[in-house]
Amino acid sequence: MGVRMNEHIAPPTLRIEPQGWCVPLPAGLTLLEAALQAGVRLPRSCRNGTCRACLCRCVSGTVHYKVEWPGLSAEEKAQGWTLPCVALADGDVVIAAPGALNATTVP
Ligand code: FES
Repeated sequence: MGVRMNEHIAPPTLRIEPQGWCVPLPAGLTLLEAALQAGVRLPRSCRNGTCRACLCRCVSGTVHYKVEWPGLSAEEKAQGWTLPCVALADGDVVIAAPGALNATTVP
């Protein structure tokens, strides 16, 4: 009967709309990597923030980027557009990615 220390806080989640799929966002993984790890295939190509194949809207939550100049204008960022291949979540995030596919079984 030990006391469990709450050392591991549950990771934030990424919800993908309109499908409503939720996947965990482990620290250090981009939105794209976290989705792929959970079996959700988001549109993508270069994976380095330049081609914009993954461009989608961030409906809720905030992100920061692992590259200095992701292929987004300041105006696009302000409008909520994001590039999941280089975006790291600051907490729970909801994106609108109608092109996402369920590669396996997503709860
Ligand atoms: S996959 Fe190319 S910008 Fe995201």
